[in-house]
Amino acid sequence: MIEEVTRQGVPIPADQVDGLLTMAARAPSILNSQPWLFRVGDYAIELFADPHRKLRADLTGREMLISCGAALYGLRLAIRSLGYQPRVQLLPDPDRSALLARVTLGDSEPITDFERQLVEAMPHRHTHRGPFSGQPLPRGLLIGLQHDAVVEHASLALIDRAAAFEQLAGIVARSARSQSADEHARTDARTWARRPGSADRDGVPARAIPAQAGPRPGRLAQRDLDLGRGIGQLSTEGPPPAATAILLTTADTRADWLRAGQALHRLLAHAATQWVFASLHSQPLEQQAVRDLIRSRLGLAGAPQVLLQLGVARIAEATARRPASEVIIPPKMG
Ligand SMILES: Cc1cc2nc3c(=O)[nH]c(=O)nc-3n(C[C@H](O)[C@H](O)[C@H](O)COP(=O)(O)O)c2cc1C
Repeated sequence: MIEEVTRQGVPIPADQVDGLLTMAARAPSILNSQPWLFRVGDYAIELFADPHRKLRADLTGREMLISCGAALYGLRLAIRSLGYQPRVQLLPDPDRSALLARVTLGDSEPITDFERQLVEAMPHRHTHRGPFSGQPLPRGLLIGLQHDAVVEHASLALIDRAAAFEQLAGIVARSARSQSADEHARTDARTWARRPGSADRDGVPARAIPAQAGPRPGRLAQRDLDLGRGIGQLSTEGPPPAATAILLTTADTRADWLRAGQALHRLLAHAATQWVFASLHSQPLEQQAVRDLIRSRLGLAGAPQVLLQLGVARIAEATARRPASEVIIPPKMG
């Protein structure tokens, strides 16, 4: 099927496939579930969702698609590093809902300095759940991140008034309390939180799991991945993040979730170029009622997709990924 529709244009360089998929797979994903698969043809790479890796609490697949959108951005950037413009068809076949995007190589155009910085930031970009340095964000960075979101057809609302932050923090804390008893959420934490010493190449490693998930001044409540098992090894004692933001999309369709993922990865990579990292908070948004509440109470001009808290940090430990060979659909399957 992949060959019939795309036997034209620039061939995918066979010796670059591993590198392309490795950069795509460095994307952030919900609890490092890496819910993506790729089919590589001669002229196109197709991105699929892997529903076996969907979280139980992610009833609509929204978080899975945001994650896959992030991988799509990584693939686009990797194609830029080869000197081509990526051409992307989102959701190209309405009869195949797992097929999320078809990517081909377009015009040749050298990578820009900014894109090169993003590529260089990929290895140390990470989700930062621990303490930050306490330094202010580099001047102009937040405006740059807002620009990233807009370029990717999303927007980034800054929660910079104390009253709005308190309102958001209150909603997130109440939702965290109610979700701590939710069986789906508990199953997700047990499935994807890794114990110390685990050699798994997916899931959240123990060293990235906060030892205490409870509220901290200036911080939104974190998802409880420890569940009282004592596996979390990360101390959260120390300075809080410097900024809080919400990634929004105008509508709330599957295409919007893919756009949100692309925007998220782009802005996180941009922040990482200046050693700014984010904690991500999506658990409250797993309940539609909470999404509606956050939207209305904060007067947001769009559907909330991810909550972020950003700060400067000098420690960067990347989490593991499955190798490219494990995310390729073999020919004639899938
Ligand atoms: C859609 C989405 C939702 C996420 N939600 C949370 C969350 O609620 N809590 C959390 O600690 N991390 C969350 N993350 C961050 C992932 O756990 C993280 O990306 C993954 O573990 C890979 O680690 P890395 O970002 O350090 O590479 C989310 C990431 C994505 C893409």
